Amino acid sequence: MSEQSGQQVAMSQLQAQYQLRIDAVLSQAIARLNPLAPKLKAAMEYGLLQGGKRVRPLLVYACGDLFAQANDTALDAAAAAVECIHAYSLIHDDLPAMDDDDLRRGQPTVHKAFDEATAIIAGDALQALAFELLSQTNLGLSAERQLRMVQELAVAAGFHGMCGGQALDIQYEGQAIDSAALEQLHRHKTGALILTAVRLGALCTPDLQEPHLSSLSKYAQAIGLAFQVQDDILDITADTQTLGKTQGKDIMQQKSTYPALLGLDGARQLADQLLDQALSALADIPYPTQTLEAFAHYIVKRDF
Ligand code: IPE
Ligand code: IPE
Ligand code: MG
Ligand code: MG
Ligand code: MG
Repeated sequence: MSEQSGQQVAMSQLQAQYQLRIDAVLSQAIARLNPLAPKLKAAMEYGLLQGGKRVRPLLVYACGDLFAQANDTALDAAAAAVECIHAYSLIHDDLPAMDDDDLRRGQPTVHKAFDEATAIIAGDALQALAFELLSQTNLGLSAERQLRMVQELAVAAGFHGMCGGQALDIQYEGQAIDSAALEQLHRHKTGALILTAVRLGALCTPDLQEPHLSSLSKYAQAIGLAFQVQDDILDITADTQTLGKTQGKDIMQQKSTYPALLGLDGARQLADQLLDQALSALADIPYPTQTLEAFAHYIVKRDF
């Protein structure tokens, strides 16, 4: 087996292991909701638990597992919180007022399977659930550390992160924008939450050293942008069945994307440059970073 395919096998085994772990944590979080509003609960479960690559929780775990002293209870809470924000962002992203998509993770979107009002409330409730999970008092972290993590997630999810980026994404539909504006859009709508996944994973280690957090953040900024560059590429090159979402939507809706700005080859070159940036940021970390390296490759080489 070549070194490359050996790495891919190891990566997919680790992914499967982390996926089982996060799915169990998320299932428990949903199971704990009382039966007050069964339709809302079913919509939350549908939006959170039906598929998904779980890239953000995997990053939380992989960063936590770099450090021997990482707190597993806190890692589970942070991974679940980040995925709840992500699932909420997808449910709202698919709404008719936003990208108006019918298909997500190979199934009808939440507003199609339920209705629009339920989809809006399910997104809202998943966002609140994220902060409920991350602010639990039994995580075994200092109150100061935990508050820092809650604040980082709030900033990444809100105006200065994902929501700000989503607003720019809508604003720039049909417009020709320059590379600085496109980078700002992508770093907000997608990069911010990926950066936070990495940082929260690292922050689950009580005696984390700030220079290590800073190198990990550089890594995360590169893969966070690369993740959306690849999402834009796949919208053109993949097919609907593989993607689990309708192919060609970006062109149809005249979205501002990297292939629209640079062409497919230019976008692929950018993804490769970002991969190099991510790998060189890891070189500054004195721990075994093979998993994070494999992850960076996966993010730019994935086919869905
Ligand atoms: C899709 O995210 C939305 C973007 C931010 C590009 P993912 O590609 O991580 O979606 P799932 O969770 O695997 O469905
Ligand atoms: C969505 O970006 C980013 C989010 C914050 C949800 P896209 O609109 O490109 O995501 P997909 O392609 O619908 O998954
Ligand atoms: Mg969108
Ligand atoms: Mg979309
Ligand atoms: Mg997309």
